[in-house]
Amino acid sequence: MGRPAVSSVFDTIRQRYSCRSYLRQPILAITRRHLQEYLAGLSQGPLGSTARFELAAASEDDSQALHGLGTYGFIKHPAGFIIGALPPGEKDLEDYGYLLEQAVLQATELGLGTCWLGGSFTQSTFAQRIHAQENELVAAVIAAGYPAPGSRERDLIRRQVRADERLSWKRLFYDSQFGQPLAPEAAGEYAQALEMVRLGPSASNRQPWRVVRQDGAWHFYLERTPGYRSGAVNRLLRLADLQRVDMGIAMCHFAAAAGALGLAGRWQVRDPAPSVPDELIEYTASWEING
Ligand SMILES: Cc1cc2nc3c(=O)[nH]c(=O)nc-3n(C[C@H](O)[C@H](O)[C@H](O)COP(=O)(O)O)c2cc1C
Repeated sequence: MGRPAVSSVFDTIRQRYSCRSYLRQPILAITRRHLQEYLAGLSQGPLGSTARFELAAASEDDSQALHGLGTYGFIKHPAGFIIGALPPGEKDLEDYGYLLEQAVLQATELGLGTCWLGGSFTQSTFAQRIHAQENELVAAVIAAGYPAPGSRERDLIRRQVRADERLSWKRLFYDSQFGQPLAPEAAGEYAQALEMVRLGPSASNRQPWRVVRQDGAWHFYLERTPGYRSGAVNRLLRLADLQRVDMGIAMCHFAAAAGALGLAGRWQVRDPAPSVPDELIEYTASWEING
């Protein structure tokens, strides 16, 4: 398919974008199989939750496979969906984001376009499809397929949320404490890992992740967008707390990049949590540097 056999995680993260328009073409059987195998091995999140994932995809002789899986018309001709379910737990949504973003990167490597859907999907039909138990969450799903021409350039939603823009380093990454920006040059070999955090997808492109380097660790925080969770529309749609999912995605990108750079570390939730400067900011977890 004209795609290099091996691509680095950096290339994959840079290549990914939210694709909302797909070719009317089923995902190749071999690609479906690869993705299904990958999903089968994906279960344990770094913060202790266990999730399960499935691919619902149309095949050449079964175009009804996606029947009833609705996306409110935002997504044109998806060829499949990655659906996950997980039981409630303290860091469930972060783990869900972490694991599902791993699947997104894998799908990207396999040549597929993807789009996270946290709001624009009919949760109940997807929950039925994965046979979710009553207590299991289906917080978000991934649309997938081969990108239609112009899917990036001619997407009005992209323009609305300024999907090609990201906050500056000054707003996202800090040294020792909030308010003290960390420049890329001062981040040393971790600069690339932070840049991968910055390029990540987030609900409505709000980019709520903040990272502070302190005491041999990278502390990850969620800076909530005021009103984002409690807005009337969100209440109506009963959205899961998508900004916590965003945090898991950021952690996934950081760990994937650190792994590729040979930088050893592991996730830990510090107790007591590192201090926060105001009530919009919540501590999520820390990447503890090994050695
Ligand atoms: C948790 C989450 C939920 C999202 N939900 C939706 C959605 O419901 N509908 C949609 O069109 N895009 C959705 N997106 C895609 C974002 O709008 C997109 O990631 C962001 O605008 C940045 O653009 P990019 O992914 O192309 O880099 C979601 C992204 C995330 C991470």
